[in-house]
Amino acid sequence: MALNLALLKELSEAAGVPGREEAVREIVLRELTPLADEVRTDALGNVIARFRGGSGPKVMLAAHMDEIGFLVKHVDEKTGFVRLDPVGGFDPRVLVAKRVVVHTESGDLVGAIGTKPVHVLTEEERKKPLEIKDLFVDLGLPAEEVKARVQIGDFVTLRQDFVAMGELVSGKAMDDRVGLFAMIEAVRKLRERSFEAEVYAVATTQEEVGLRGARVSGYGVSPEVGIALDVTIASDVPGASESDYVTKLGEGVAIKIKDSASVSNPKLVRFLRKIAEERDIPYQLEILPRGGTDAGAMQLTKEGVAAVTLSIPTRYVHSVVECVHPRDVEATVDLLAAFLERAHEGEYSL
Ligand code: CO
Ligand code: ZN
Repeated sequence: MALNLALLKELSEAAGVPGREEAVREIVLRELTPLADEVRTDALGNVIARFRGGSGPKVMLAAHMDEIGFLVKHVDEKTGFVRLDPVGGFDPRVLVAKRVVVHTESGDLVGAIGTKPVHVLTEEERKKPLEIKDLFVDLGLPAEEVKARVQIGDFVTLRQDFVAMGELVSGKAMDDRVGLFAMIEAVRKLRERSFEAEVYAVATTQEEVGLRGARVSGYGVSPEVGIALDVTIASDVPGASESDYVTKLGEGVAIKIKDSASVSNPKLVRFLRKIAEERDIPYQLEILPRGGTDAGAMQLTKEGVAAVTLSIPTRYVHSVVECVHPRDVEATVDLLAAFLERAHEGEYSL
C-alpha cells in the first residue's frame, strides 16, 4: 500500500487549535462524507461518521483534529506586540525564533515569535527557564494596524511545512493529524471489505485541553469498544536510555497498555496482538508514563467502554518537527482495518 502523503501533508499544514478546528473539519468532511453511510457534527464540532456493517458491536474510533497553539490574549497599546495564552502544552524552549500565523477575522497575518535578545539578558535572566510570558509575537505592523485587525481570542498556530526527511516525514501537528489520517485511510478500506461491526469514525475536538470532544461524542455514540488513534513518544534519540524509549520509530504500530488517562482493556490488547501476528503487521507494546488520549474519555463513557489506543511512534512530540515513519503509519492503518473486519469475533467484557 502506498500512503496518500498528499492528504497527510494537507492535514499537517492545516491550522486548528482546540475549539477552532474548522479548517481541519472541512478536510475531514470532504474525505468521510463520500465513504460513510451517514455523517453529522455536534455542538462541540466533532465529526461523527457512521459505517453500517451488520449486527456486530458498536465500535467508536477517535482521532483528534485540534493541535496545540495559542489565543491572542493582549495587544500592546504602544508597540502592537501580541501576547499569547496557550491552548495545549508547548515547551517554551521550542517556540523561540519560530514563525506563527495569527488567524484574524479579516485574514491571516504572519508573525515571528520574539523574546528579549540574549545579548541584553542579565546573568540572573539567563539562568531562568523560559516561560510563555517571556515571548511575544511581532507582526511587523504599526500598533494602530495591529489593534485594528487583531482581536483578543484570535487563534495562533505555528507555521511549518510538511517535508520528507530521509525515510521519515516531518511537520507540525502530526499530533494528531497522522492519527486522523490513519483513521480515514482505515475506514476507506471498509468500502472494499465486509464487516459486521457498526463503526463510528469520530474526528474529535479539544483533545489537547482535556479530551473534551471525545467525552461528548462518546456519550452520543455510546459504543461497546473505543479505539483512539494518536501519536506517542518515541524517545529513541541520543541521550535517552533504552528503557525510556517508550517506542521506537519504524518498529510498527504501538498497542497501548497504559498511559496516565487510561489502562487499556486487556482482552482488546490481546485480540489486537493476535490479529497483528496473524497478518504479519509489525507492532510494539507501549507504556507511556505521562500523557493521555481520547481513549481515557471513551473508557469512562456511561457505564464504561472497552478502550485502547493504537499509537503512532513520533519523535519530538509537541514541536514543529514532529517525525513519523511511514511504515508505522501503514501498520496502524492495516491493524485498524483488520480489527474492524473482525471486531464481531472479539469478547470484551472482563
Ligand atoms: Co498532543
Ligand atoms: Zn494527540
